[in-house]
Amino acid sequence: MADGSCTARAGTNIALVKYWGKRDAALNLPAAGSLSLTLEDFGSETTVRFVRQTGGGDKRDRVIVGGKPAEPGFAGRVQRFVDLVRTRAGIDLPAEVVTTNSVPTASGLASSASGFAALALAASRAAGLHLSFPELSELARRGSGSAARSIFGGFVEMSAGTRIDGSDAVAHTVADEKSWDVRLCVAITAAGQKAVSSTAAMDLTAQTSPYYPAWLASVPADIAEAHAAILAHDLVRLGVVAERSAMRMHACAMAAEPHILYWNPATLAAISTVIELRADGTGAYFTIDAGPHVKVLCSASDAPRVAAALAGTPGVVRVLTLAPGPGAHIIGEP
Ligand code: PMV
Repeated sequence: MADGSCTARAGTNIALVKYWGKRDAALNLPAAGSLSLTLEDFGSETTVRFVRQTGGGDKRDRVIVGGKPAEPGFAGRVQRFVDLVRTRAGIDLPAEVVTTNSVPTASGLASSASGFAALALAASRAAGLHLSFPELSELARRGSGSAARSIFGGFVEMSAGTRIDGSDAVAHTVADEKSWDVRLCVAITAAGQKAVSSTAAMDLTAQTSPYYPAWLASVPADIAEAHAAILAHDLVRLGVVAERSAMRMHACAMAAEPHILYWNPATLAAISTVIELRADGTGAYFTIDAGPHVKVLCSASDAPRVAAALAGTPGVVRVLTLAPGPGAHIIGEP
């Protein structure tokens, strides 16, 4: 009987082979695959409680983020997501959703990835559903494309799938979080202009960038290469493909009309630092998402040196060093 509650936790993830473009906007289906690393420490913890009605109480969902009522746009997005769960479970109860994000604000680490992964697990369990991991990944994808990957820990591959209902557009583990002791050093660069949302930017890129077809065509080979590098624990090979994927994604977006430029001067300075580290013999490789921050892949033993070099880069305001982490998991059920 759905009158339950559940608390789940999920970590954020960073793509090493980027997702940039949808084949179906309504179902949030990616036009190509992607490959990411789920991170520990930073993520979302979400409690969902379906509230049994006694009399004519408030039928609306309540969404609390970081101790405060969510702003209407985000609350609506959460409500539409919970509607998917209610429909699937055959229930009509309002939900109370309480979430906290440990992802630092404006860090360029996506809280939507961990947020919708934690919400998919907590809401489905609270509704009495026991979904498989692929089913959870498919559900999380409806909230945010990258959230489908945060259901799993460590290195994760997301399939584009070919079915129109999206049932095969799900993620799976390539290698778990204990398999390879790498780090991602996140260089937070001074906040620039407000970033264009990834959904709007992907749409504009697909509509106007002459390089979009070439970008999509390049992704499968990058995924195959990254996959092989991960299984071989070959940091150079993985780093080369991660940089190439990020540069191609940004080049494609920069060629949209109007152009989409996420970088600021500190982004370029951090890229230069990574190139200098490599020239000095340190294995460090950058990737950049829909914002100005630079995330640097390296071994655990090199991470202190990489973090120090990034911290000394003009315009870098803070550096976080993050290890691989587990997938979404339940931390409390009544
Ligand atoms: O999950 P979304 O819709 O926020 O898109 C994520 C886009 C990138 O972070 C730039 C790339 C990725 O694969 O995570």
